[in-house]
Amino acid sequence: MDNTQKVKWGIIGAGNIAKKMADALEITPNCQLCAVASKTPSKARMFADENRIKNAYNYQEIVNNREIDIIYVATTHNFHFDNAKLALEHGKHVLIEKPFTVNAKEARELVRIAREMNLFLMEAMWVRFLPSMTMLKNKIQNYEIGEVKLFNISFGSFVTTEYEKRLKDPALAGGVTLDMGIYPISFVCYLLGELPIDIKSMTRFSDLGVDEISNYMFRFPSGCLTNICTSYNLKMRNEAIIYGSKGFIEFPQFMVGERLTIFKHEGTNNIQDTIEVHENNHSNGFIYQVEEVVHCIQEGKLESEIISLNETIGIMEVMDKMRNEWGFIYPFE
Ligand SMILES: NC(=O)c1ccc[n+]([C@@H]2O[C@H](COP(=O)([O-])OP(=O)(O)OC[C@H]3O[C@@H](n4cnc5c(N)ncnc54)[C@H](OP(=O)(O)O)[C@@H]3O)[C@@H](O)[C@H]2O)c1
Repeated sequence: MDNTQKVKWGIIGAGNIAKKMADALEITPNCQLCAVASKTPSKARMFADENRIKNAYNYQEIVNNREIDIIYVATTHNFHFDNAKLALEHGKHVLIEKPFTVNAKEARELVRIAREMNLFLMEAMWVRFLPSMTMLKNKIQNYEIGEVKLFNISFGSFVTTEYEKRLKDPALAGGVTLDMGIYPISFVCYLLGELPIDIKSMTRFSDLGVDEISNYMFRFPSGCLTNICTSYNLKMRNEAIIYGSKGFIEFPQFMVGERLTIFKHEGTNNIQDTIEVHENNHSNGFIYQVEEVVHCIQEGKLESEIISLNETIGIMEVMDKMRNEWGFIYPFE
């Protein structure tokens, strides 16, 4: 596909996040949202009408439509594998909401199919593409705080009504790790450019049997350590502090914040410089990941370098390992 052609999109799942994506596709150049699909025909029609989309389909109809290049999977986690597989098997490129799948076995199978079919596939880890995240990654890569040695991250809030069922229901693959914990896990892996080799964790289960408060401790090949606390049932500070040999970075409003404070020292306890930096993100932060997908498809790339498929599988393996240790298996697994 050349860069004058529009990438034609279809969405599977007419829920909360699909709306944000529909808005992003409307304002991102070279995109056209052609269809939405839902298991409930009236829901698909209403979503289509509200978002000026021509076609309202069921899942089979949307993948049969020859005009569509890429399917965005926006259903709850438990459906990601089946929906993405259906789309890939009908020759569509696929962008899947986080978490990519429920476990690494499903992830590996989707990657296998996509590679066999020569199709683009990506996890919609949208925060990686925000300008503020790129700025932070550049600061780390440029050794502004020297060698990175420790991350301390809190990420939690009381879940709001619209997300409650999805987060609490084991049948929908609920729980804080797959839904929220994945963000700080993905964040540290992205900034360090590596996957953890030692993984220790603890959790507290909800009455319905999903993980509600979880703590993860990782050690990376570089030697960097991380402490991550996450919950869907606590108001937390929502901040990351990244400690290096020559300073530390405070990143409030984890992960969408636009401001960082960098405290610099020379390997002593004396802070010699304090620098505030800022980078604006668009109010609909999904546009940056959409731009990346469009770029990859136009260039004929089958995966993004910002979030490779091997890394996505590796992160699913980390979450599998922790869930196994907790004896936390979903009813459908
Ligand atoms: N990137 C982000 O910032 C972000 C934010 C929120 C969510 N997400 C991710 O996006 C995905 C969808 O989240 P959401 O909040 O949009 O979910 P949602 O509105 O609760 O549901 C999305 C769709 O999933 C299907 N579904 C939901 N509950 C179901 C049930 N009980 N039985 C059968 N089907 C059900 C429905 O598909 P049909 O319309 O086909 O029936 C629904 O339209 C999740 O994987 C989530 O992790 C990402």
